[in-house]
Amino acid sequence: MHFVRLLSAALLAVPIGLAAAAQSEPAHVYAEHCASCHGADRLGAMGPALLPENLERLRKAEALKVIRDGRPATQMAAFGAKLSTDELQQLADWIYSPVTPRPDWSEAQIRASRIEHVKNSDLRAAPVFLADMMNLFLVVEAGDHHVSILDGDKLERIHRFPSRYALHGGPKFTPDGRYVFFCSRDGWVSKFDIWNLKTVSEVRAGINARNLAVSADGKYVAVANYLPNTLVLFDADLDLIKVIAAKNLRGDVSSRVSAVY
Ligand code: HEC
Repeated sequence: MHFVRLLSAALLAVPIGLAAAAQSEPAHVYAEHCASCHGADRLGAMGPALLPENLERLRKAEALKVIRDGRPATQMAAFGAKLSTDELQQLADWIYSPVTPRPDWSEAQIRASRIEHVKNSDLRAAPVFLADMMNLFLVVEAGDHHVSILDGDKLERIHRFPSRYALHGGPKFTPDGRYVFFCSRDGWVSKFDIWNLKTVSEVRAGINARNLAVSADGKYVAVANYLPNTLVLFDADLDLIKVIAAKNLRGDVSSRVSAVY
């Protein structure tokens, strides 16, 4: 009797021990505490993507601090009280490790990501405010992800609006000065109508983007991606025209696209 009880206790101990080890795996901690905002696949959702490419400009020690203490005045809460020091460190290491297989961003995903905030037919064909349209300043506020439009004559703010997380590569204008396009670190492209002071449409061109260019006639937008290795072409409504894979002729070597002009 004694022997049987000991044996069952020993048997019980094994699965519990395994379960405890599995629980503290960073992938599990992530799934429980982070995936709802940063995406199950780490590609981002309400919160930014957490992939090595996307975190290039954030030191790991800084990431650990963000996870432990949160970011004030944002949705990013502090996890220092919920997770152990080991779990925090493992999570910080894990988000800098590559996802395998390498995540892709297909034409279907690009098309499905497109958001039309305002119909072209609902936009006024003249500016809704008084200023010299060819003398405006756009100020990209990197810290809190907003953009301000300033009157270039008076240096007064006309409008301020939220942007996507971490804009990259500078805003690009159409030649008539009406529209401006922004590209975010996580591959989001936003088209903003300066005359109407409205974000018109958005699309996610990739998972990690460097910059975008607008053609001289204002009809095309090209986006340079690090992840995946593509150059993506849109028309001025941000409808996808073509994805160009940055590959050699044999197709066996691909390259990140650093910038497009
Ligand atoms: C409720 C949503 C939410 C949850 C849950 C959440 N985050 Fe965040 N996280 C955010 C947002 C939003 C930001 C961007 C904050 C800002 O504007 O700077 C962020 C930022 C971050 C950053 C900084 C990224 C950068 O590029 O600067 C890291 C690292 C991070 N989160 C890791 C985590 C980890 C790890 C977890 C789970 C333990 C987690 N987050 C849980 C919403 C969330």
